[in-house]
Amino acid sequence: MSDKVEVLWLSQNDVIAAGGLDMAAVVSTVEDVFRLHGNADYVLPTKISLEWQKPADLPPGEQKNHVNFMPGYVGGPFQTIGYKAIASFPRNPFQHNLPRASALIVLHDIEVGLPLAVMDGTLISTMRTGAVSGVGAKYLARKDVRRVGLIGAGVQSRTQLMALKVARPGISQAMVFDIRPERAAAFAAEMSRKLEMDIQVADSAEGVARRAEMLVTATTNISEPIIRQGWLAAGTYYAHVSAYECEYDVIRQADKILVDSWALVKARMYSTVALMWRDGRFADDDLYGELGEVVTGKKAGRETAAETIIFSPIGLALHDVAVAHRIYQTAKAKGLGQKVLLWDEPVWK
Ligand SMILES: NC(=O)c1ccc[n+]([C@@H]2O[C@H](COP(=O)([O-])OP(=O)(O)OC[C@H]3O[C@@H](n4cnc5c(N)ncnc54)[C@H](O)[C@@H]3O)[C@@H](O)[C@H]2O)c1
Repeated sequence: MSDKVEVLWLSQNDVIAAGGLDMAAVVSTVEDVFRLHGNADYVLPTKISLEWQKPADLPPGEQKNHVNFMPGYVGGPFQTIGYKAIASFPRNPFQHNLPRASALIVLHDIEVGLPLAVMDGTLISTMRTGAVSGVGAKYLARKDVRRVGLIGAGVQSRTQLMALKVARPGISQAMVFDIRPERAAAFAAEMSRKLEMDIQVADSAEGVARRAEMLVTATTNISEPIIRQGWLAAGTYYAHVSAYECEYDVIRQADKILVDSWALVKARMYSTVALMWRDGRFADDDLYGELGEVVTGKKAGRETAAETIIFSPIGLALHDVAVAHRIYQTAKAKGLGQKVLLWDEPVWK
C-alpha cells in the first residue's frame, strides 16, 4: 500500500458548489448539532483567543484584532474532529476593503488522525452563525412575526436575516441601522433583492429596536451599549450576536435568557451577559438555559406570545466542524476541490 497522503483543499467557490450558501441545509445541520449538544454527545474545549495589540495602539472604543482557535469533536452521525482558526480584523472593511473575518477549517480523520481537508471557513463561519440565530428563532420567536430589526449592516447581518427567513418564512419586512449609513444602504439594496423582502434603512437603533418583532445586534461595537432599557416590545425575540450590545437592564428585564454554551460564554468574557456575570449582576441561576436543552425538549422554548426572550450565543466550534464535515462529504461525492500532497511517504514512523 502506498504511503502517499493527500489533503483536499476547498476554496470558497468549492464550498459554495458543495452547498455552502444553502441556508436551509446549514440551519438543519446546526439544529442537529444543538441536539447533540443537549445530549452531551460532543467534546468542546474552550476557544483560545490570540490578542497582541496594546489598548494604546487602538482608536478609543475599538475592538482588538484577534485570531480565535476553536477545536471540537461532534458525535452522533457526524463522528468528526477538526478546528476553525478565524482572524477578526474589525477595521478591514473600512481600511483595506477586506472582510472583517477570514477563516480556515481543518478536518482530521477520526480513525488515524491524518488531515483530510483544509477549506475556506469564512463562509461556513458566517453561515453557521446566522443559522444559530435561526434555530433560536425556530424555538424562541413568535410564529406570527413579520418585522425584523437589524443593528449593524455587516457580513453577519446578511446571514442572520437569511436564517431568520428560513425559520420564519412569513417575515416580510426588515429595518436596518448602522453607524455607517452607506453600509446600511448597500445592505438594503443587496438583501431586499436576494430575499425578495422590503428592507428599510433606519436612522437610529432605537427606531429599529422599538418596532422589531425579532431583533438582531451584530456589530463591532464595544464601547457604549446600543440597545437601551425599555426599547424592546413584549414578545420580542432578540438575538444578541456580538459583544457589549445592550444595557444590563435589557437582560434583567427579559423573561428568558438563553445561550449556546454557558461555560464558553463565561470563558470568552465578551458578551453583555458574560460581563454582567463578571460584575455580579447575573448569577448562574438567572440563565434560563442553553439552546440544546430546548432543542432536545428538556426545557420549554417560547411558552407565551408576550415573553421577551434573549438568545446570546458565543459561537461553538461544533457547528463549524459539523457544517464543514457535510461540505467535505458533498465535495468528495461531486469531485470538487484540489488534492494537495502532504507527503509521498513520511520521513519517520
Ligand atoms: N456569536 C458568534 O458566534 C459570532 C460569530 C461571528 C461574528 N460575531 C460577531 O459579530 C460581529 C459582526 O461581525 P461582522 O462580520 O458582521 O462584522 P462587519 O465588520 O462586517 O460588520 C459590523 C458592522 O457593525 C457596524 N457597527 C459598529 N458599531 C455599531 C453601532 N454602535 N451601531 C450600529 N452599527 C455598528 C459597523 O459599521 C459594521 O457595518 C463581530 O463583532 C463578531 O465578533 C459573533
